[in-house]
Amino acid sequence: MNSNFEAYLASIIKEDIVVDQAMNYALTAPGKRLRPFLLLSFLKDCGYSEEYGYPCAAAIEMIHTYSLIHDDLPAMDNDDLRRGRKTVHKQFNEAVAILAGDALLTKAFEVIADSEYSDNEKVKIVSILSKCAGHQGMIKGQDLDISLLYKETVEIDDLSMMEYYKTGMLLTAPLLCGAALTDNTNLEDKIIDIGKKIGLAFQIQDDVLDYTSNEEIMGKSISDSRNNKNTFYNLLGLKGCTDVYIRLYNSAISVIDSLPINLASTKKIILEMKNRRK
Ligand code: IPE
Ligand code: IPE
Ligand code: MG
Ligand code: MG
Ligand code: MG
Repeated sequence: MNSNFEAYLASIIKEDIVVDQAMNYALTAPGKRLRPFLLLSFLKDCGYSEEYGYPCAAAIEMIHTYSLIHDDLPAMDNDDLRRGRKTVHKQFNEAVAILAGDALLTKAFEVIADSEYSDNEKVKIVSILSKCAGHQGMIKGQDLDISLLYKETVEIDDLSMMEYYKTGMLLTAPLLCGAALTDNTNLEDKIIDIGKKIGLAFQIQDDVLDYTSNEEIMGKSISDSRNNKNTFYNLLGLKGCTDVYIRLYNSAISVIDSLPINLASTKKIILEMKNRRK
């Protein structure tokens, strides 16, 4: 928890209409803030102040939060609990949840456009965020998640691709933005490799936790079984999943260790992700 960043996040949306309230309701709820922390720690590792990263970190968290609001809708996972609170469509209504998600996505780009980043940095960030969130990124993963419901046999490769897109792309975004904001774009290929590994590992853990944890600890609905989702847990079980995600995290750490820059704080966040219980 970084209280300065939390205060910054809470100051972005001024409340006027009900959609504004719904946006803040979801955004200021106690999420783990992993995507912002990945970016802020990357900047710190490269000698920049964390504050420099706030607009970009907030934009990523807003896009992630929008993805959760829409993921919980009745047409998607139909869930009632998120970040320890009723989901937005339960607290408000479905129309407000759709609009609040749309508005958070749009606002993310407004925050970047109005920030003090250089024009060149703004264009790079907009390019990264739109690609990672869009139809070749998170949305593609959500589309695959739904289409896999209708497949009788699902292979590991299908699941890996779906999970990388739906979760890995938005976990890669902060690392790519970190590289863009610190003049390290030459490291892009290795950074995408790290993002792919931690993204897939993180979603495999999520699949496991959906079966092995509970709503009180997770602060969100447990619904993969009710929704007949095809997940890594069904295919590999607890031990198989644990072996795969530990291997992926370790492999990501090896790539970090091979970089010409020292990403000590970023590595620490990734180790916390590896050991997460929620
Ligand atoms: C939840 O993401 C959705 C997945 C990608 C599994 P997080 O587990 O990061 O959720 P918050 O942000 O802490 O609520
Ligand atoms: C969703 O995956 C990832 C998103 C793109 C939001 P899940 O549907 O498994 O995420 P949770 O378990 O609801 O957080
Ligand atoms: Mg889902
Ligand atoms: Mg869900
Ligand atoms: Mg899940």
